[in-house]
Amino acid sequence: MTLDKNGITESVLQNLHDDAKNDLLRIGKGIAKSIFRPIQPSDFENAYLPITEEQGVALRQLIIDNNCKNVVEFGTSLGISTIYLADGVRQTGGKVITTEILESKAARAENNISKAGLSDLVEFRVGDAMETLNGYSKLIDFLFLDGWKDLYLPLFQMLEPCFHAGTLIYADNMDMSGTQYYGDYVLGKGATYKSQMVYKGKAMLTACAA
Ligand SMILES: C[S@@+](CC[C@H](N)C(=O)[O-])C[C@H]1O[C@@H](n2cnc3c(N)ncnc32)[C@H](O)[C@@H]1O
Repeated sequence: MTLDKNGITESVLQNLHDDAKNDLLRIGKGIAKSIFRPIQPSDFENAYLPITEEQGVALRQLIIDNNCKNVVEFGTSLGISTIYLADGVRQTGGKVITTEILESKAARAENNISKAGLSDLVEFRVGDAMETLNGYSKLIDFLFLDGWKDLYLPLFQMLEPCFHAGTLIYADNMDMSGTQYYGDYVLGKGATYKSQMVYKGKAMLTACAA
């Protein structure tokens, strides 16, 4: 695996970010459907819902600066964040495990990651993260939380035995409802977890102290 010398990964990312900008209409339809019931992943089957380019660059740098090798992602969507994570582990000699509940999205993400030249660095687990990561036992260096918000806390607690001193946990969309349980839990364990809000307060970065 070589670095992105020809800019292939960067050009795939640029195209994906451009496509994602055209998503607003489809996202609007998903929200309209969900007025009468809770929002479900399938309401956003074609939507990227991605991190921004600025966030992606910062995530990649965090992985490189902290030499993170085992990276786990909750919420692949169409693969934009996964590409940044995989581009980071390309430089640290690591791997990304990513999980997405919708098969159609996982298939499109796999295709995007292949175009970006990063397939060797990404393992897909298709299904509900609470099942696909159940029993996971390897030490995690970097956990990226970006799936459904009410699962941040149960998923974090399920994976806590895999954390070590220095594990980083980046939780996106901390301004969305459902994340408060996660925030309360992590901030309440201040001796174990040191947290700071990043990216203009949208995300929370936590370091495991022990
Ligand atoms: C905000 S999007 C992820 C965006 C992606 N991380 C990016 O920046 O490109 C959230 C994704 O989580 C998926 N998701 C929701 N609940 C899930 C679950 N229980 N297990 C796995 N994936 C889930 C949704 O289908 C959706 O594609």
